[in-house]
Amino acid sequence: MTSIRVMQQRAEGDPKGFWTEAAAGISWHRSWDRVLDTSNAPLYRWFSGAELNTCYNAVDRHVEAGFGEQVAIHYDSPVTDTAYPITYAELQVQVARLAGALKAEGVGKGDRVVIYMPMVPETVYAMLACARLGAIHSVVFGGFAAAELATRIDDAKPRLVLSASCGIEPSGVVPYKPLLDRALELTNHPVARCLILQRPQCEATLLAGRDRDWHEAQQGVEPAECVPVAATDPLYILYTSGTTGTPKGVVRDNGGHAVALHWSMKAIYNIEAGDTFWAASDVGWVVGHSYIVYGPLLARATTVLYEGKPVGTPDPGAFWRVIEQYQVKSFFTAPTAIRAIKREDPDTEYLARYNLGCLNALYLAGERCDPDTLNWAMDTLKVPVVDHWWQTETGWAICANPLGIEPLPIKAGSPSLAVPGYQVDVLDEEGEAVPPGQSGAIAIRLPLPPGTLPTLWGDDQRYIDSYLSRYPGYYLTGDAGYQDEEGYLYIMSRIDDIINVAGHRLSTGRFEEVLAQHPAVAEVAVIGVADKLKGQLPLGLVVLKAGVTLSESQLYEELIALVRKEIGPVAAFKLVSVINKLPKTRSGKILRGTMRKIADNQDYVVPATIEDPAALDLVHNTLVRLGYGKGRVTA
Ligand code: COA
Ligand code: AMP
Repeated sequence: MTSIRVMQQRAEGDPKGFWTEAAAGISWHRSWDRVLDTSNAPLYRWFSGAELNTCYNAVDRHVEAGFGEQVAIHYDSPVTDTAYPITYAELQVQVARLAGALKAEGVGKGDRVVIYMPMVPETVYAMLACARLGAIHSVVFGGFAAAELATRIDDAKPRLVLSASCGIEPSGVVPYKPLLDRALELTNHPVARCLILQRPQCEATLLAGRDRDWHEAQQGVEPAECVPVAATDPLYILYTSGTTGTPKGVVRDNGGHAVALHWSMKAIYNIEAGDTFWAASDVGWVVGHSYIVYGPLLARATTVLYEGKPVGTPDPGAFWRVIEQYQVKSFFTAPTAIRAIKREDPDTEYLARYNLGCLNALYLAGERCDPDTLNWAMDTLKVPVVDHWWQTETGWAICANPLGIEPLPIKAGSPSLAVPGYQVDVLDEEGEAVPPGQSGAIAIRLPLPPGTLPTLWGDDQRYIDSYLSRYPGYYLTGDAGYQDEEGYLYIMSRIDDIINVAGHRLSTGRFEEVLAQHPAVAEVAVIGVADKLKGQLPLGLVVLKAGVTLSESQLYEELIALVRKEIGPVAAFKLVSVINKLPKTRSGKILRGTMRKIADNQDYVVPATIEDPAALDLVHNTLVRLGYGKGRVTA
């Protein structure tokens, strides 16, 4: 039997033994009473009774072990023309000082701190400073608008917000401070203190009494020590799109997270201490949390913090330049980024300028990887390309080709096998596992391994209702697909109203909420349509109120601007069409599933419960006009 199957069986048959061994990679302040605490099932806890500090494990212990001079972070910012290394010793100083400033502001164990910042080293210091104090950070991606930030602040109820004057996008400087100010006007939760990092590209106006300058706040403060916390205490909350407009606060614990991420660095990414690893994502997403910050630092690797894009900063050779410059061994990005590079450098002229001999493998995740993209990357980079599948909720890969355990044959279109610790099944409506080749809902048997979400912030019931109730004994991933005879999984679609735009997960429900605010809109449905670059794009189908006199072009402009203002530029909302009627069931439910099928060019059945079949024809015709809807009605 292959090593991966042996390890899968070991993790399944003896999860406590398996994860106890993995836990040896972490320094504990106090050992656990129970490896796996089942007392509150289906809510499970790992390493209950244990104490540790995640920042200590990611930073201090490496300095104590004599690796202070090793580079912890290579900061590389083509958009500001800045690049410098930060050693573990420097990182410790920076983090301890910032933690001291937070402590002086009254931040302590269990307090929440919202971080709304660009890709600068101070953002990593901020996350680690919270971890150092046992405070819970919640990073909000910079491409979200004020209203989205406000929702997250209201849910997390932070004692303090950390932000910067601006982010820098290829289109120019994006001032963050006005967005933060607006968000704080919208929130119900009062925030008494904000620390603002002034960037030279754009100086923010500070509000006297509430805002303090980042550096001034750190002057004269006592550096803070690491505070031991319970393994089961939250390290962070990361909001992600749910099916409704209200985001879900995914909770990450300290102990299980440290164990799983440390283990994954070798097992999945084949990274040893001292190696350089790069995840070209943003710290605002889970990939950034796990594999820009915590995973590499826990494993004493060197990580790269890149403030730029795959193309345009300055050219499609940017990623290859960084890989060569820092001798990156394993590189992780989203398929969209590879598609963007392929589009601008189809003949690999830019790629040819760099020596990528250091690179052992490319890892892709965040969205489905189409076989063309995977094959192009393998042919051009001449290294294994690992498509791996995971979610904000799991925090690390569910399925992968674990190169550090055993390289598996690559099958384009599949993220390979379940990683040891995960037991993945494809289920039918009744919850029965379907045979290979047959599609169904993808679910993971409980308990989930360490590092995965123990619950949603402040809402155990929502966690149970959203994930654990559909199939008792299972966690519902929300993805659908099938397994082949060899257990390779194929992730084909979502079973809910989540779409994936350039590897960013967005809720169509939230788009609908926003579009419905426009005074001309009577009804609206938003679906994802295929896009060659970003995988999917949101398309709004709007029914107008009677008597609307706006021209269609004016209306479209206003709707696009509204989404940008309310959700943010990351929504990439540009497609909207007026329609006379939306297709519904006789009980009034919009037939989103059928519309999604039409948009995906699939054949579809007209549901027996449809109120007016002509409305579905209207949608089909509209989608055909937009270049979709190539499927046929099959019954
Ligand atoms: N702060 C402020 N604005 C941001 C932002 C941030 N952190 N990140 C993105 N935006 C803005 C962009 O400036 C852009 O605004 P625009 O409409 O004014 O141009 C908009 O949000 C969409 O950004 P993006 O998704 O980056 O699309 P793009 O068309 O500018 O670039 C790609 C296309 C392919 C280069 C880009 O989508 C990309 O790098 N994708 C990889 C995705 C990825 O790494 N995902 C991580 C998940 S693992
Ligand atoms: P997020 O929580 O933003 O990371 O998004 C998670 C979702 O992205 C998953 O539930 C999938 O729908 C999709 N996804 C992530 N990685 C992959 C992958 N390798 N293949 C297919 N879909 C993926």
